[in-house]
Amino acid sequence: MGARLQAVGLEKEYGAAMAVDGVDLDARPGEFVSLLGPSGCGKTTSLRLIAGLERPDAGRITIDGRDVTDVPPQRRGLGMVFQQYALFPNLNAYENIAFALRVRRLPKAEVERRVAELLAVVHLEDAAGRYPHQLSGGMQQRVALARALAAEPPLLLLDEPLSALDAAIRDELRTELRRLQRALELTVIYVTHDQAEAMAISDRIVVMERGKVNQVGSPQELYDRPATRFAAGFIGASNRRLTTVELVAGHPTIRWGDARLPIARNGPLPPGSTVMAAWRPEAATLTDAGNAASALHGRIELITFLGPITRLDVRVPGDDEPVLVDLVSTAAAHLQTGQSVAVSIPPDAIRIYA
Ligand SMILES: Nc1ncnc2c1ncn2[C@@H]1O[C@H](COP(=O)(O)OP(=O)(O)O)[C@@H](O)[C@H]1O
Ligand SMILES: [Mg+2]
Repeated sequence: MGARLQAVGLEKEYGAAMAVDGVDLDARPGEFVSLLGPSGCGKTTSLRLIAGLERPDAGRITIDGRDVTDVPPQRRGLGMVFQQYALFPNLNAYENIAFALRVRRLPKAEVERRVAELLAVVHLEDAAGRYPHQLSGGMQQRVALARALAAEPPLLLLDEPLSALDAAIRDELRTELRRLQRALELTVIYVTHDQAEAMAISDRIVVMERGKVNQVGSPQELYDRPATRFAAGFIGASNRRLTTVELVAGHPTIRWGDARLPIARNGPLPPGSTVMAAWRPEAATLTDAGNAASALHGRIELITFLGPITRLDVRVPGDDEPVLVDLVSTAAAHLQTGQSVAVSIPPDAIRIYA
Protein backbone atom coordinates (compact mmCIF):
# COMPACT_ATOMS: atom_id res chain seq x y z
CA MET A 1 0.00 0.00 0.00
CA GLY A 2 1.27 3.44 -0.89
CA ALA A 3 2.34 6.09 1.57
CA ARG A 4 0.85 9.47 2.17
CA LEU A 5 3.15 12.33 1.27
CA GLN A 6 2.65 15.81 2.64
CA ALA A 7 4.84 18.81 2.03
CA VAL A 8 4.11 22.20 3.50
CA GLY A 9 5.69 25.51 2.54
CA LEU A 10 8.71 24.10 0.70
CA GLU A 11 11.27 26.69 -0.32
CA LYS A 12 14.62 26.38 -2.07
CA GLU A 13 16.74 29.27 -3.21
CA TYR A 14 19.71 29.05 -5.58
CA GLY A 15 21.70 32.27 -5.46
CA ALA A 16 19.10 34.99 -5.76
CA ALA A 17 16.55 32.79 -7.53
CA MET A 18 13.71 30.97 -5.78
CA ALA A 19 13.63 27.58 -7.52
CA VAL A 20 10.82 26.45 -5.19
CA ASP A 21 8.77 29.19 -3.59
CA GLY A 22 6.24 27.96 -1.05
CA VAL A 23 5.07 24.64 -2.49
CA ASP A 24 2.42 22.56 -0.69
CA LEU A 25 1.71 18.98 -1.77
CA ASP A 26 -0.58 16.31 -0.41
CA ALA A 27 -0.64 12.91 -2.11
CA ARG A 28 -3.00 10.26 -0.77
CA PRO A 29 -1.91 6.63 -0.45
CA GLY A 30 -2.02 5.04 -3.89
CA GLU A 31 -2.48 8.33 -5.68
CA PHE A 32 -0.68 9.22 -8.90
CA VAL A 33 0.20 12.92 -8.70
CA SER A 34 2.02 14.78 -11.47
CA LEU A 35 4.00 17.97 -11.16
CA LEU A 36 3.44 19.70 -14.50
CA GLY A 37 4.95 22.91 -15.77
CA PRO A 38 7.41 24.41 -18.22
CA SER A 39 11.14 23.92 -17.99
CA GLY A 40 12.68 25.73 -15.02
CA CYS A 41 9.47 26.02 -12.95
CA GLY A 42 10.91 24.00 -10.06
CA LYS A 43 9.59 20.48 -10.66
CA THR A 44 12.90 18.65 -10.32
CA THR A 45 13.94 20.73 -7.32
CA SER A 46 10.63 19.92 -5.61
CA LEU A 47 11.17 16.22 -6.25
CA ARG A 48 14.75 16.37 -5.00
CA LEU A 49 13.52 18.02 -1.80
CA ILE A 50 11.00 15.22 -1.30
CA ALA A 51 13.71 12.65 -2.02
CA GLY A 52 16.07 14.27 0.47
CA LEU A 53 18.73 14.97 -2.16
CA GLU A 54 18.39 18.67 -1.32
CA ARG A 55 17.57 20.32 1.96
CA PRO A 56 14.73 22.87 1.90
CA ASP A 57 15.42 26.41 3.12
CA ALA A 58 11.95 26.30 4.66
CA GLY A 59 9.04 23.89 4.94
CA ARG A 60 8.42 20.38 6.25
CA ILE A 61 7.97 17.01 4.54
CA THR A 62 6.11 14.10 6.11
CA ILE A 63 5.64 10.54 4.86
CA ASP A 64 2.76 8.70 6.53
CA GLY A 65 2.81 11.37 9.20
CA ARG A 66 6.51 10.96 10.01
CA ASP A 67 8.53 14.15 9.60
CA VAL A 68 11.39 13.20 7.26
CA THR A 69 12.70 16.70 6.57
CA ASP A 70 15.97 15.89 8.33
CA VAL A 71 16.08 12.18 7.37
CA PRO A 72 18.63 11.08 4.73
CA PRO A 73 17.24 9.81 1.38
CA GLN A 74 17.94 6.12 1.98
CA ARG A 75 15.89 6.17 5.19
CA ARG A 76 12.80 7.83 3.72
CA GLY A 77 11.47 4.54 2.30
CA LEU A 78 11.06 5.79 -1.22
CA GLY A 79 12.15 4.86 -4.71
CA MET A 80 13.21 7.22 -7.44
CA VAL A 81 14.08 7.47 -11.09
CA PHE A 82 15.74 10.71 -12.04
CA GLN A 83 16.68 11.98 -15.44
CA GLN A 84 20.21 10.70 -15.07
CA TYR A 85 19.73 6.96 -14.87
CA ALA A 86 22.38 5.95 -12.31
CA LEU A 87 22.33 2.22 -13.02
CA PHE A 88 25.05 0.05 -11.50
CA PRO A 89 27.61 0.13 -14.34
CA ASN A 90 29.13 -3.24 -13.38
CA LEU A 91 25.77 -5.07 -13.39
CA ASN A 92 23.83 -6.07 -16.49
CA ALA A 93 20.17 -5.12 -16.97
CA TYR A 94 18.94 -8.33 -15.33
CA GLU A 95 21.18 -7.90 -12.30
CA ASN A 96 20.31 -4.21 -11.93
CA ILE A 97 16.64 -5.16 -11.58
CA ALA A 98 17.32 -8.28 -9.49
CA PHE A 99 19.34 -6.19 -7.06
CA ALA A 100 16.21 -4.43 -5.82
CA LEU A 101 14.49 -7.79 -5.26
CA ARG A 102 17.45 -9.39 -3.47
CA VAL A 103 17.53 -6.40 -1.13
CA ARG A 104 13.97 -7.38 -0.27
CA ARG A 105 15.22 -10.94 0.41
CA LEU A 106 12.83 -12.61 -2.02
CA PRO A 107 13.49 -16.31 -2.76
CA LYS A 108 15.62 -17.04 -5.85
CA ALA A 109 12.79 -18.42 -7.98
CA GLU A 110 10.63 -15.43 -7.12
CA VAL A 111 13.45 -13.05 -8.06
CA GLU A 112 13.78 -14.77 -11.45
CA ARG A 113 10.07 -14.65 -12.07
CA ARG A 114 9.75 -10.97 -11.13
CA VAL A 115 12.79 -9.85 -13.14
CA ALA A 116 11.43 -11.63 -16.22
CA GLU A 117 8.06 -9.99 -15.67
CA LEU A 118 9.58 -6.49 -15.29
CA LEU A 119 11.88 -6.96 -18.29
CA ALA A 120 8.75 -7.78 -20.28
CA VAL A 121 6.95 -4.70 -18.94
CA VAL A 122 9.72 -2.42 -20.22
CA HIS A 123 10.25 -4.51 -23.40
CA LEU A 124 13.84 -5.44 -22.66
CA GLU A 125 13.59 -9.26 -22.64
CA ASP A 126 16.33 -9.43 -25.26
CA ALA A 127 18.67 -7.03 -23.47
CA ALA A 128 18.80 -8.76 -20.07
CA GLY A 129 22.50 -9.59 -20.39
CA ARG A 130 23.65 -6.17 -21.54
CA TYR A 131 25.57 -3.76 -19.36
CA PRO A 132 24.54 -0.09 -19.07
CA HIS A 133 27.23 1.10 -21.50
CA GLN A 134 25.77 -1.32 -24.08
CA LEU A 135 22.29 0.17 -23.74
CA SER A 136 20.87 3.31 -25.37
CA GLY A 137 19.68 6.18 -23.18
CA GLY A 138 16.08 5.10 -23.60
CA MET A 139 16.91 1.50 -22.68
CA GLN A 140 18.82 2.61 -19.60
CA GLN A 141 15.82 4.68 -18.60
CA ARG A 142 13.61 1.60 -18.93
CA VAL A 143 15.97 -0.50 -16.79
CA ALA A 144 15.97 2.24 -14.15
CA LEU A 145 12.17 2.28 -14.18
CA ALA A 146 11.98 -1.52 -13.88
CA ARG A 147 14.46 -1.46 -11.02
CA ALA A 148 12.45 1.19 -9.18
CA LEU A 149 9.22 -0.78 -9.68
CA ALA A 150 10.90 -3.99 -8.49
CA ALA A 151 11.45 -2.44 -5.09
CA GLU A 152 7.71 -1.67 -4.81
CA PRO A 153 8.41 1.41 -2.69
CA PRO A 154 5.36 2.91 -0.98
CA LEU A 155 6.39 6.24 -2.47
CA LEU A 156 7.90 6.40 -5.96
CA LEU A 157 9.41 9.61 -7.33
CA LEU A 158 9.79 9.80 -11.10
CA ASP A 159 11.42 12.68 -12.95
CA GLU A 160 10.47 12.59 -16.63
CA PRO A 161 11.18 8.84 -16.70
CA LEU A 162 9.91 8.39 -20.25
CA SER A 163 11.50 11.47 -21.81
CA ALA A 164 14.22 9.64 -23.73
CA LEU A 165 11.83 7.22 -25.42
CA ASP A 166 10.24 7.19 -28.87
CA ALA A 167 6.58 8.18 -28.97
CA ALA A 168 5.16 4.69 -29.52
CA ILE A 169 7.03 2.98 -26.70
CA ARG A 170 6.50 5.99 -24.45
CA ASP A 171 2.72 5.66 -24.75
CA GLU A 172 2.91 1.93 -24.14
CA LEU A 173 5.16 2.28 -21.07
CA ARG A 174 2.97 5.04 -19.72
CA THR A 175 0.02 2.64 -19.79
CA GLU A 176 2.08 -0.15 -18.20
CA LEU A 177 3.37 2.17 -15.50
CA ARG A 178 -0.16 3.28 -14.66
CA ARG A 179 -1.37 -0.34 -14.58
CA LEU A 180 1.42 -1.44 -12.24
CA GLN A 181 1.04 1.62 -10.02
CA ARG A 182 -2.66 0.80 -9.60
CA ALA A 183 -2.07 -2.90 -9.03
CA LEU A 184 0.61 -2.26 -6.40
CA GLU A 185 -1.26 0.77 -5.02
CA LEU A 186 1.94 2.82 -5.07
CA THR A 187 1.92 6.52 -4.38
CA VAL A 188 3.69 8.18 -7.30
CA ILE A 189 4.95 11.73 -7.68
CA TYR A 190 5.65 12.15 -11.35
CA VAL A 191 7.42 15.11 -12.95
CA THR A 192 6.68 16.04 -16.54
CA HIS A 193 6.56 19.10 -18.77
CA ASP A 194 4.24 17.24 -21.18
CA GLN A 195 0.62 18.17 -20.51
CA ALA A 196 -0.78 15.33 -22.62
CA GLU A 197 1.27 12.82 -20.63
CA ALA A 198 0.17 14.33 -17.31
CA MET A 199 -3.47 14.25 -18.41
CA ALA A 200 -3.26 10.62 -19.49
CA ILE A 201 -1.52 9.17 -16.46
CA SER A 202 -2.49 11.18 -13.36
CA ASP A 203 -5.14 11.08 -10.68
CA ARG A 204 -4.27 14.67 -9.91
CA ILE A 205 -2.04 17.27 -11.50
CA VAL A 206 -0.17 20.03 -9.72
CA VAL A 207 0.45 22.82 -12.24
CA MET A 208 3.61 24.73 -11.37
CA GLU A 209 4.74 28.15 -12.54
CA ARG A 210 7.93 29.89 -11.44
CA GLY A 211 8.44 27.90 -8.26
CA LYS A 212 4.83 28.12 -7.13
CA VAL A 213 1.78 25.90 -7.34
CA ASN A 214 -0.56 27.45 -9.84
CA GLN A 215 -3.49 25.02 -9.70
CA VAL A 216 -4.21 21.52 -8.40
CA GLY A 217 -6.93 19.30 -9.82
CA SER A 218 -7.90 16.15 -11.66
CA PRO A 219 -7.08 16.12 -15.37
CA GLN A 220 -10.73 16.78 -16.14
CA GLU A 221 -11.01 19.66 -13.68
CA LEU A 222 -7.93 21.31 -15.11
CA TYR A 223 -9.18 20.85 -18.63
CA ASP A 224 -12.75 22.01 -17.99
CA ARG A 225 -12.01 24.74 -15.46
CA PRO A 226 -8.48 26.06 -15.68
CA ALA A 227 -8.40 28.57 -12.83
CA THR A 228 -5.71 30.79 -14.21
CA ARG A 229 -4.59 32.24 -17.49
CA PHE A 230 -1.44 30.20 -17.18
CA ALA A 231 -3.26 26.88 -16.71
CA ALA A 232 -5.62 27.74 -19.56
CA GLY A 233 -2.67 28.32 -21.84
CA PHE A 234 -0.68 25.32 -20.72
CA ILE A 235 -3.34 22.61 -20.77
CA GLY A 236 -5.03 21.62 -24.00
CA ALA A 237 -5.62 23.79 -27.04
CA SER A 238 -7.50 27.05 -26.58
CA ASN A 239 -8.48 30.07 -28.60
CA ARG A 240 -7.21 32.90 -26.42
CA ARG A 241 -7.29 36.63 -26.91
CA LEU A 242 -6.76 39.73 -24.85
CA THR A 243 -10.01 41.63 -25.17
CA THR A 244 -12.41 43.98 -23.42
CA VAL A 245 -15.76 43.42 -21.73
CA GLU A 246 -18.61 45.54 -23.05
CA LEU A 247 -22.26 45.62 -22.01
CA VAL A 248 -24.74 45.27 -24.85
CA ALA A 249 -28.36 45.80 -23.78
CA GLY A 250 -27.26 44.97 -20.25
CA HIS A 251 -25.54 41.71 -21.22
CA PRO A 252 -21.79 41.24 -20.96
CA THR A 253 -20.01 40.60 -24.24
CA ILE A 254 -16.43 40.47 -25.41
CA ARG A 255 -14.98 41.85 -28.55
CA TRP A 256 -13.47 39.19 -30.86
CA GLY A 257 -12.03 40.68 -34.00
CA ASP A 258 -14.76 42.92 -35.40
CA ALA A 259 -17.45 40.77 -33.78
CA ARG A 260 -18.92 40.58 -30.31
CA LEU A 261 -19.57 37.39 -28.37
CA PRO A 262 -21.94 37.13 -25.42
CA ILE A 263 -20.38 35.66 -22.30
CA ALA A 264 -21.92 34.19 -19.17
CA ARG A 265 -22.32 36.50 -16.23
CA ASN A 266 -20.13 34.79 -13.64
CA GLY A 267 -18.12 37.02 -11.39
CA PRO A 268 -17.36 40.71 -11.48
CA LEU A 269 -16.57 41.91 -14.98
CA PRO A 270 -16.56 45.67 -15.02
CA PRO A 271 -17.37 46.93 -18.53
CA GLY A 272 -14.31 48.29 -20.24
CA SER A 273 -11.94 45.99 -18.32
CA THR A 274 -9.26 44.18 -20.27
CA VAL A 275 -9.44 40.40 -19.84
CA MET A 276 -8.10 37.21 -21.33
CA ALA A 277 -10.89 35.23 -22.98
CA ALA A 278 -10.38 31.55 -23.82
CA TRP A 279 -12.50 28.80 -25.31
CA ARG A 280 -11.77 25.25 -26.44
CA PRO A 281 -11.83 24.41 -30.16
CA GLU A 282 -14.35 21.63 -29.50
CA ALA A 283 -16.77 23.95 -27.69
CA ALA A 284 -17.74 25.66 -30.95
CA THR A 285 -20.29 24.56 -33.50
CA LEU A 286 -20.99 25.74 -37.01
CA THR A 287 -24.35 27.41 -37.33
CA ASP A 288 -26.46 28.60 -40.17
CA ALA A 289 -24.87 31.92 -41.10
CA GLY A 290 -28.26 33.55 -41.61
CA ASN A 291 -29.56 33.42 -38.05
CA ALA A 292 -26.44 33.69 -35.94
CA ALA A 293 -26.04 37.32 -35.01
CA SER A 294 -23.73 36.53 -32.12
CA ALA A 295 -21.49 34.08 -33.98
CA LEU A 296 -18.09 34.66 -35.52
CA HIS A 297 -18.43 34.90 -39.27
CA GLY A 298 -15.35 33.83 -41.14
CA ARG A 299 -13.78 31.83 -43.90
CA ILE A 300 -12.21 28.38 -43.60
CA GLU A 301 -8.50 28.79 -44.19
CA LEU A 302 -7.31 25.29 -43.41
CA ILE A 303 -8.92 21.89 -42.84
CA THR A 304 -6.81 19.35 -40.94
CA PHE A 305 -8.09 15.80 -40.76
CA LEU A 306 -7.01 14.29 -37.42
CA GLY A 307 -8.90 10.99 -37.54
CA PRO A 308 -11.92 11.15 -35.24
CA ILE A 309 -11.91 14.94 -35.30
CA THR A 310 -11.22 17.51 -37.99
CA ARG A 311 -9.70 20.89 -37.10
CA LEU A 312 -10.69 24.03 -38.95
CA ASP A 313 -8.65 27.21 -38.98
CA VAL A 314 -11.24 29.93 -39.51
CA ARG A 315 -10.15 33.44 -40.43
CA VAL A 316 -12.37 36.05 -38.76
CA PRO A 317 -12.37 39.73 -39.82
CA GLY A 318 -10.41 41.98 -37.47
CA ASP A 319 -8.73 39.04 -35.71
CA ASP A 320 -4.96 38.56 -36.04
CA GLU A 321 -4.93 34.77 -35.92
CA PRO A 322 -7.39 32.17 -37.14
CA VAL A 323 -9.70 30.61 -34.56
CA LEU A 324 -9.50 26.84 -34.19
CA VAL A 325 -12.69 24.80 -34.37
CA ASP A 326 -12.72 21.03 -33.79
CA LEU A 327 -15.59 19.06 -35.28
CA VAL A 328 -16.37 15.38 -35.27
CA SER A 329 -14.97 14.34 -38.64
CA THR A 330 -18.30 13.03 -39.91
CA ALA A 331 -19.75 16.51 -39.36
CA ALA A 332 -16.90 18.15 -41.24
CA ALA A 333 -16.83 15.88 -44.28
CA HIS A 334 -18.75 18.28 -46.53
CA LEU A 335 -16.66 21.40 -45.71
CA GLN A 336 -14.22 22.99 -48.10
CA THR A 337 -11.34 25.44 -47.78
CA GLY A 338 -12.43 28.97 -48.61
CA GLN A 339 -16.01 28.36 -47.54
CA SER A 340 -17.79 30.97 -45.38
CA VAL A 341 -19.01 29.71 -42.04
CA ALA A 342 -20.53 31.03 -38.82
CA VAL A 343 -18.90 29.75 -35.64
CA SER A 344 -21.10 29.74 -32.56
CA ILE A 345 -19.62 29.50 -29.06
CA PRO A 346 -21.89 28.92 -26.06
CA PRO A 347 -21.47 31.87 -23.67
CA ASP A 348 -20.66 29.59 -20.74
CA ALA A 349 -17.88 27.89 -22.72
CA ILE A 350 -15.95 31.15 -22.81
CA ARG A 351 -13.67 31.46 -19.81
CA ILE A 352 -12.62 34.92 -18.69
CA TYR A 353 -9.42 35.69 -16.82
CA ALA A 354 -8.59 39.06 -15.31
N1 LIG B 1 21.77 23.17 -8.42
C1 LIG B 1 21.29 24.32 -8.89
N2 LIG B 1 22.00 25.47 -8.83
C2 LIG B 1 21.51 26.64 -9.28
N3 LIG B 1 20.29 26.77 -9.82
C3 LIG B 1 19.53 25.67 -9.94
C4 LIG B 1 19.97 24.39 -9.48
N4 LIG B 1 19.01 23.49 -9.71
C5 LIG B 1 17.99 24.17 -10.29
N5 LIG B 1 18.31 25.49 -10.42
C6 LIG B 1 17.42 26.52 -10.98
O1 LIG B 1 16.19 26.44 -10.31
C7 LIG B 1 15.11 26.61 -11.21
C8 LIG B 1 14.21 25.39 -11.18
O2 LIG B 1 14.91 24.30 -11.75
P1 LIG B 1 14.30 22.85 -11.84
O3 LIG B 1 13.72 22.47 -10.54
O4 LIG B 1 15.34 21.97 -12.41
O5 LIG B 1 13.12 23.07 -12.89
P2 LIG B 1 12.31 22.02 -13.78
O6 LIG B 1 12.61 20.63 -13.30
O7 LIG B 1 10.87 22.40 -13.59
O8 LIG B 1 12.73 22.25 -15.19
C9 LIG B 1 15.73 26.89 -12.56
O9 LIG B 1 15.78 28.28 -12.74
C10 LIG B 1 17.10 26.31 -12.45
O10 LIG B 1 18.01 26.97 -13.27
MG1 LIG C 1 13.44 19.01 -14.40
